[in-house]
Amino acid sequence: MEDSLICALDLGSTKAVCLIGEVDHLGELSILGAGAVSCIALRRGEIQDMDAAAAAAGAAIQDAVNEAGSTPDEMTVSISGTHVEGLRSRGIATITPRMRPIAHEDILQAKNHSEKMIMPAGKEAILHLLGAFQVDGSSGVKDPLGTAASRLEVESYFAAADSREVKRIEELSATAGMPDIRICPTGIGSGYGLLSPEMRDLGTLVIDLGGDVTDITVFHDGGVIYTETIPVGSAHVTSDLMQLLETEYREAERIKIDCGAAHAASVSEDESVEILQKGADKMRPMRKRVLAEMIEARIREIGQMIWKRIVRAGLEDSLTGGIVLTGGGSLLEGTDEVFGSVMAGRKVRVEGPKLKGLHSKKLKNPKFAAAVGLLQFEMHRDDGEFRPASSQSSWKNPISAIKTMFGG
Ligand SMILES: Nc1ncnc2c1ncn2[C@@H]1O[C@H](COP(=O)(O)OP(=O)(O)OP(=O)(O)O)[C@@H](O)[C@H]1O
Ligand SMILES: [Mg+2]
Repeated sequence: MEDSLICALDLGSTKAVCLIGEVDHLGELSILGAGAVSCIALRRGEIQDMDAAAAAAGAAIQDAVNEAGSTPDEMTVSISGTHVEGLRSRGIATITPRMRPIAHEDILQAKNHSEKMIMPAGKEAILHLLGAFQVDGSSGVKDPLGTAASRLEVESYFAAADSREVKRIEELSATAGMPDIRICPTGIGSGYGLLSPEMRDLGTLVIDLGGDVTDITVFHDGGVIYTETIPVGSAHVTSDLMQLLETEYREAERIKIDCGAAHAASVSEDESVEILQKGADKMRPMRKRVLAEMIEARIREIGQMIWKRIVRAGLEDSLTGGIVLTGGGSLLEGTDEVFGSVMAGRKVRVEGPKLKGLHSKKLKNPKFAAAVGLLQFEMHRDDGEFRPASSQSSWKNPISAIKTMFGG
């Protein structure tokens, strides 16, 4: 066991990914081991089939441990679903006598005050992140120590999640041999996987368009100010195609990935694609433009759902760092354009993690943004920010024949 090892597990609706990394003396992260296996045990971000989820997580962890050659002490695990709530709180310290330099005790008092948050019924705090300070009304202050002031405030963010889902994640991790875990919303992980500290300061919206869900997160002043999970993702595009084109699900997924496009106006009128309908014994042609129109309707709807929430939260003018799109769904050509068109014409950038070394080619795929980001979050975290999660589990699970995505 090595102290510098860090480990993250992203449990998604299509795959479980475990990464083990190490941070060198210059603060550079290198991946030592990776495991990624297909997993369909979650629905809309939540665990539906515990046995299958534990088996997939166990297999991904085992692959990563075998490759890394050591087992980490602890692990950060993703959580998603509409039950995950982002809450904001403000901590205040009054400086007396007025205009004296802010001391460590004042900072601690503001921090402690910001931690007092009453959780909604059935929910528990999984993460507490401090944002920037405000000194006598001036916001965005990173280090207030020594500044002469009368009032110090700190914004903080809490993630609260359904206690039953937290328990499931704890049990599953313990069964997979990793009882010491921290839990972090998937979207926060994705943001850490993609954004530089400058981008997290400027105000950036990160959209992780996954299979079953879309996680949206806004970073500002170095902290997190908004998180939400929308229970719609790229798998809904596949289901639409399956119904509209009368194909099997597998064929609809193939059509989406191999021939699909989300921005119909960019597709030539003359192009055609081949599709296999249910019960047919040979492929039939269809116009690619018509296929794109079917896809665009769903992508447009997802984009509108996201933007409506951003506008409702009053955040559309806080996005100086722009909009970043990631997750497997971002690979569907033209999705960035359609999203931009429903997000007040903003530019939307598709990004994947940037890493050097082992597996860097595979891990730069946007579908690995959350896994890589959870590792990077772990690397930067301050111990006090996490709720300590304890787990005990009595049940066991066979890690059966699961297809591995990384191979040797
Ligand atoms: N090349 C591609 N083109 C279009 N869509 C793709 C491509 N590759 C993957 N996808 C889609 O991305 C989705 C999976 O994305 P991702 O791997 O980010 O999801 P997940 O993390 O497993 O699930 P979730 O985040 O919803 O829990 C699937 O619906 C898949 O069809
Ligand atoms: Mg995901």
